[in-house]
Amino acid sequence: MRTMTCIEDLRQAARREVPRMFFDYVEAGSYAEETLRANRADLERIKLRQRILVDVSKRSTRTTILGEPAALPLALAPIGLCGMQRGDGEILSCRAAQAAGIPFTLSTMSICSIEDVAAAVDKPFWFQLYVMKDRGFVRALIERAAAAKCSALVLTVDLQVLGQRHRDIKNGLTVPPQLHLRNLIDIATKPAWSLSILRGRRRTFGNIAGHVRGMENVNSLARWTNEQFDAAMSWKDVEWIAGVWGGKLILKGILDVEDARIAANTGAAALVVSNHGGRQLDGAMSSIAALPAIADAVGSSMEILFDGGIRSGQDIMRAVALGARACLCGRAYIYGLGAGGEPGVARAIEIMRNELAFSMALTGVTDVGRIDRSVIAEK
Ligand code: GLV
Repeated sequence: MRTMTCIEDLRQAARREVPRMFFDYVEAGSYAEETLRANRADLERIKLRQRILVDVSKRSTRTTILGEPAALPLALAPIGLCGMQRGDGEILSCRAAQAAGIPFTLSTMSICSIEDVAAAVDKPFWFQLYVMKDRGFVRALIERAAAAKCSALVLTVDLQVLGQRHRDIKNGLTVPPQLHLRNLIDIATKPAWSLSILRGRRRTFGNIAGHVRGMENVNSLARWTNEQFDAAMSWKDVEWIAGVWGGKLILKGILDVEDARIAANTGAAALVVSNHGGRQLDGAMSSIAALPAIADAVGSSMEILFDGGIRSGQDIMRAVALGARACLCGRAYIYGLGAGGEPGVARAIEIMRNELAFSMALTGVTDVGRIDRSVIAEK
């Protein structure tokens, strides 16, 4: 893993290791992918202010997220089908995150179940919740997360309906993958992946199979999601979920100041400024463009987290400078997982931590808590 020197190296390796259907699932944005591209382009446009001859011999990237210590302002985002990138992918990623001292988020649409992950790791992790029409099942999921001692519930609020990702349709994305000729050839050329999946605990959605009928084999993930997820979900449900959960709640998927103001009155501990990695409303603004106004409006009443295009420590610095307490990264760590399992995820985190520490040095900041808008160069 040492020769993997940047997230792009991990991405290239993951592309070689992981069957196309699952690699593409992670890569894709929705529709024309305008917002997917805007997330990256707008981050790159933000230039850092180089400052020199400050004593930066001692630097700290340590912070707190929701009151818990973190080695750097980063958490691993919830990723559906994570365990299809590599067998037991959720457990491997959680272990790498915990060893690096940052939070891991388990997706509702994970392969390993809440209980699988809880039994395999030492510390609490975050659980991400999707709201299905069957509220009995939603309540049961929340109770399972509480029983597993999850330390925060991340409620996704931007996926009542699923954005179309052309590649998933064209690739015929199914879980587990259907073994027709095209997939078979692809899978046959990915022996390390195949072995890891065969050795993994599960090959379907661990939180859902056995709890919801028809989940043993999902022929069309998009169709299933659109049937089961509740398009009628509203702020009232947030109240209900907060009451059932009773612990730290994070609302993920806020891009508008008015919504952020409502979120700040729900009692949630944090929100995530996010457009779901450019996978939902195509044509929406980039996450980084939305961040400053939301941080200004509600940053004093809740923690502001950020995702959307994070590929480096420089990107983390940009988001923290514009008001994020911490960033979530999705694709960046999934590339590491596909490229090399647990050491690959560890490497992804290490790369971004080193880049952040370096960027602090050359912007003259010794403590991550001091990164603010003054590190951004005027246009
Ligand atoms: C689910 O969260 C997805 O973006 O596919």
